[in-house]
Parts: sequence; C-alpha cells; structure tokens
Amino acid sequence: MASGEARRLIEEALREGRGRLLEHEALRLLELYGVPVPRYALARSREEAVEAARGIGGRVVLKVVSPEIVHKSDVGGVVVGVEPERVGEEYEVLLERVRRAAPGARIVGVLVQEMAPPGAVEVVVGGVRDPVFGPAVMFGLGGVFVELFRDVSFRVAPFPRGEALEMMREVRAYRLLQGYRGKPPRDLEALADIVMAAQRIMMDNPEISEMDINPVMSYPKGALAVDARFILKPPEG
Ligand SMILES: Nc1ncnc2c1ncn2[C@@H]1O[C@H](COP(=O)(O)OP(=O)(O)OP(=O)(O)O)[C@@H](O)[C@H]1O
Ligand SMILES: [Mg+2]
Repeated sequence: MASGEARRLIEEALREGRGRLLEHEALRLLELYGVPVPRYALARSREEAVEAARGIGGRVVLKVVSPEIVHKSDVGGVVVGVEPERVGEEYEVLLERVRRAAPGARIVGVLVQEMAPPGAVEVVVGGVRDPVFGPAVMFGLGGVFVELFRDVSFRVAPFPRGEALEMMREVRAYRLLQGYRGKPPRDLEALADIVMAAQRIMMDNPEISEMDINPVMSYPKGALAVDARFILKPPEG
C-alpha cells in the first residue's frame, strides 16, 4: 500500500525526465515508509539555509542537491558538523566548490540536515530489481565492507522479518554489530525495520530499479537513515 505522496514523488520525477529522486525527495520517501531520518530542509538561498539550521538547532550537515551530482562528497558537496553561526558562510563556500568541481551541474539547493548522534556503526541497505527474480534487498556494513570486500547479503522479496535478521548474521562483518572492543551491540530490530521498509518500497514502486540507503547510522538503540539514492526507470523502459 504505497502512499499517494510516495507515488506522486516518483511520478513527478519521471515526468520531469529525472532518473532519480533528489536528496530531500529520497528522505521524504523513506519517512513515508516509516524509516527514521534526521530532521532536514531544502534551502534555496543562504538565508533559507541559516533559517533551516536555526529551526533544527545545533550543528548541521550541508549537502548539495543536484540532479546531475550522484556522489556529493566527490565534488566537495557534503560538509558535516557545521556550527550554527557558520552556516551562511559554509553554504557559499560549498556552492563555490561544487560549481568548480562540477561545472554545468544544475544546483537545486542545499539540504540542511540535523547531525546524526556520534558513535554510529554505518550500514547499507539496498535494493535491486532483477529481471528474473524481481525485487531483492541487500544488507552490508558501510565503507570498505561493501565497497571493497563486497561483504553483503541478499534476499529476494517478499521475505519474512526473521530473514532480515538472518541477513545481518550472514555478513562477515556481523561481529561489528554484536559489539566489540567495549562498543555496545547494535539495535538489530531497528535495522530489521529498515530492511523490511526497503522491501516494501521495492515491491510497491516498480519504477524504482535500484535503491541504496547509505549510510544507515546504527546505534545501541535505534537507527537513522542519513542518505538515500533511488534510481528510477519508467516501467517497460
Ligand atoms: N546527518 C549526518 N550526520 C552525521 N554524519 C553524516 C550525516 N550525513 C552524512 N554524514 C556523513 O557523511 C558521509 C557522506 O554523506 P552522504 O552519504 O550523504 O554523501 P554522499 O555523497 O552520498 O557520499 P558517498 O557518495 O561517499 O556515499 C556519510 O557516509 C556519513 O559518514
Ligand atoms: Mg551516501
């Protein structure tokens, strides 16, 4: 049961000829499926960025939003831990850096996002659509574990919640979730909720050919999705 708003987000992006959701749309889609995300707002001017940061309170993250920029950090488009009084200045500096690194990219605005609490283990929850098996969901630990070691597990949807927990136990980096070197174990139920949400997102919305929530910040209690990509393809295309 996809919400009307989720369908509208996807249909509008496709109508505009976009092959993916913008950052703020992606976060909204996650929210609509019950995935916890830090507070955020899209700012289209320096003033709006300052205003948004004031609303959030405390230090924030700034992220460039552009249909042409997929890897924001590669073009200097992500700044974490910006002090409230530095937001206006950092907004300008970020845009200047991105314009230099990605000339010609259309910039929609800057996402102002609440800082996730420290102490997270970063994990990745993804989705792919296989022409034969249909939607499948992926789980792995963030950074080198997924990118370098391909230490991930997969399940074809639909699968029951117990399988979501089993997917976590399957990755070699599972021990990092169990607690190590005095670090407390992670809230696996909160991660299972997100795996189950990813499954529903893939099943409800056939236009999403691929998704990844990278990273999901995993804590001893709870989890937060701070960045997500949804790749869209018109059905039959
Ligand atoms: N709200 C946040 N709170 C704390 N840390 C954050 C937050 N958002 C992002 N980060 C940190 O910054 C990193 C990069 O952010 P993000 O994933 O949004 O950008 P990205 O361009 O997609 O990065 P990449 O292309 O490297 O995946 C994250 O992996 C995370 O470590
Ligand atoms: Mg990311």
